[in-house]
Amino acid sequence: MISFVWAEAKNHVIGVDGHLPWTLPNDMKRFKDVTMNHPIVMGRKTFESFPNGPLPKRLNIVISRNPDYQVPESVVLITDKSQLKEFVQPDDEVMVIGGAGIFDLFKDDVDRLYVTKIDHEFSGDVKMTKLDYDQFKLTEKKEGIVDDKNIYPYTFETYQRI
Ligand SMILES: NC(=O)c1ccc[n+]([C@@H]2O[C@H](COP(=O)([O-])OP(=O)(O)OC[C@H]3O[C@@H](n4cnc5c(N)ncnc54)[C@H](OP(=O)(O)O)[C@@H]3O)[C@@H](O)[C@H]2O)c1
Repeated sequence: MISFVWAEAKNHVIGVDGHLPWTLPNDMKRFKDVTMNHPIVMGRKTFESFPNGPLPKRLNIVISRNPDYQVPESVVLITDKSQLKEFVQPDDEVMVIGGAGIFDLFKDDVDRLYVTKIDHEFSGDVKMTKLDYDQFKLTEKKEGIVDDKNIYPYTFETYQRI
């Protein structure tokens, strides 16, 4: 099964200058909880945005068109989404974590969406790909806690393909 995990602003922005446009530690925690122990699939730029290298306790699968792109030994490099099945089990929940082109690449395959909707507009250079929400039903919705470290209103939503 394929799931998407991401956070998007009110104006659909997801990235700026190779990083996230916001600081929202509660969303980082949610991301960690949702992806922990699952394979994660990401574009080369998202992989390079991690300050401390591959994310631990998750098989990190990076997509690049460059077959010679160098990744650490623990990381899997693929150049086409058809290679994914060689590295994941049929019963895995495979977490596609972006960026935009990678969400677009998997949008017909995705079964579940974990989205953090941030009720604030941000400037950015990457926007979420358009998804057809008519094909999904909302199964969970939780207001995020706003405090001095999480200053923007946000909601965690989960959708399942109908
Ligand atoms: N808010 C969120 O939840 C979230 C999530 C993820 C990322 N982000 C942000 O989004 C930005 C990065 O996203 P991005 O969309 O610019 O880049 P990206 O999707 O992470 O990476 C793009 C790269 O992926 C490879 N790629 C894309 N399509 C491919 C295909 N069909 N086959 C093979 N390889 C393919 C290419 O790598 P090569 O150039 O090496 O060929 C391409 O340059 C950052 O700012 C990051 O912080 C935000």
